[in-house]
Amino acid sequence: MTQSANNPILELRDVVKSFGSKHILQGLNLSVSRGESLVIIGGSGTGKSVSLKCALGLLKHDAGEIVFDGKPVKDQKSVEDVRERTGMLFQGGALFDSLKIWENVAFTKINTGKVSRKIAKQEAIETLAKVRLGASVADQYPSELSGGMQKRVALARAIIDKPEMIFFDEPTTGLDPITADAVNDLIVEQVKALGAAAVTITHDMASVRKIADTVAMLYEGKIIWCGPVDRLDDSGNEYIDQFVHGRAQGPIQPAM
Ligand SMILES: Nc1ncnc2c1ncn2[C@@H]1O[C@H](COP(=O)(O)OP(=O)(O)O)[C@@H](O)[C@H]1O
Ligand SMILES: [Mg+2]
Repeated sequence: MTQSANNPILELRDVVKSFGSKHILQGLNLSVSRGESLVIIGGSGTGKSVSLKCALGLLKHDAGEIVFDGKPVKDQKSVEDVRERTGMLFQGGALFDSLKIWENVAFTKINTGKVSRKIAKQEAIETLAKVRLGASVADQYPSELSGGMQKRVALARAIIDKPEMIFFDEPTTGLDPITADAVNDLIVEQVKALGAAAVTITHDMASVRKIADTVAMLYEGKIIWCGPVDRLDDSGNEYIDQFVHGRAQGPIQPAM
């Protein structure tokens, strides 16, 4: 389906997920390779976050197969393997209010007890520097930082363990366009530095053009178009055209 067929780190094959009578994913096929940046676009409530949660084993899919690094993700051990090797920037940033910035960044390290708090803090400060935040923020709390700084902290938390794959769920939502652009630059820089595969969900077309190698559009539970980002403007697909140009008129009904 995409050029990522060569060496996929993650594949979703015919994934189905319903909540009661709400059929959210209806045979979703997606694949991302090492070093590839895949962006999933689609309207609100189409199942973008649900697809990432299924891939991380936070939600159990009803049918289909999720394959990580060539192995099916089907039991606790394989789910743990995915989570250990995947960084995640949750929708909204989702920092813990009551923890200091460094404790947020080093959350997994502190909780697994693999390193001392002192070492964990040092690593957090080094990682904060990668997202251009000084050591002075380490002892602050999330509420003391601006929205853009909070996203950078969330990015630091996603990369501290040098993951092989990173999920970004709406990383720039709520930011002004200039701050969003700066966050996108950092995302691209850090994903490249790690050589990681990245899967990003966004509504924001400026972010798509900046981050994506490959774009996939989710509509009515399926990927209805997937291709290289430079084909977005001549995809020949009326759903993509409507979404890219933000038109109310077209095959997609506005969610009102
Ligand atoms: N845990 C859940 N229980 C019931 N419905 C859910 C749950 N999580 C998501 N949904 C529903 O699934 C649909 C897709 O949600 P989501 O993936 O969050 O959308 P988006 O594409 O905006 O990220 C929505 O209708 C949402 O209400
Ligand atoms: Mg979402």
